[in-house]
Amino acid sequence: MYAFDVSGGSKADLYRDLLAALDALTAGEPDAVANMANAAALVWQYLPDLNWAGFYRLVDGELVLGPFQGKPACIRIAIGSGVCGTAAAARATQVVADVHAFPGHIACDAASRSELVVPLLNGDTVLGVLDLDSPEPGRFDSDDAAGCEALAALLAGRIA
Ligand code: SME
Repeated sequence: MYAFDVSGGSKADLYRDLLAALDALTAGEPDAVANMANAAALVWQYLPDLNWAGFYRLVDGELVLGPFQGKPACIRIAIGSGVCGTAAAARATQVVADVHAFPGHIACDAASRSELVVPLLNGDTVLGVLDLDSPEPGRFDSDDAAGCEALAALLAGRIA
């Protein structure tokens, strides 16, 4: 059993505690699927107002569904398509306040209203993306982006 002391305080405190928990969960574990699975579960449990949290992995030039929490989702996403493919192509975090206003957004769950996608980078190489969806419009801000980028940076080193 894992028990984590994840703060209910400020967003910065929450992400600091999540990073420490992810570090503890993945330290010394070489299996990428296990580490992504625990990361998805951790984020799903502690970040409020999500309807989907998980990973797409870059496999043979396209994004392929990885470990996640939420409803069954689209399996393959081309680089450059949707929010996930855009994040992978640009190697840059995408914060989308209104998914209906994002050209080419791929609707896996009709409940999703906003989305945050962070690329998992090993140097310049894209390993995949972390994708969070929320039923709340404008759920994600720059603090969420920074917090999730720190999680993604730690995890990238544990799945490479
Ligand atoms: N909305 C994403 C697709 C993945 S699902 O949200 C899980 C996109 O536009 O890339």
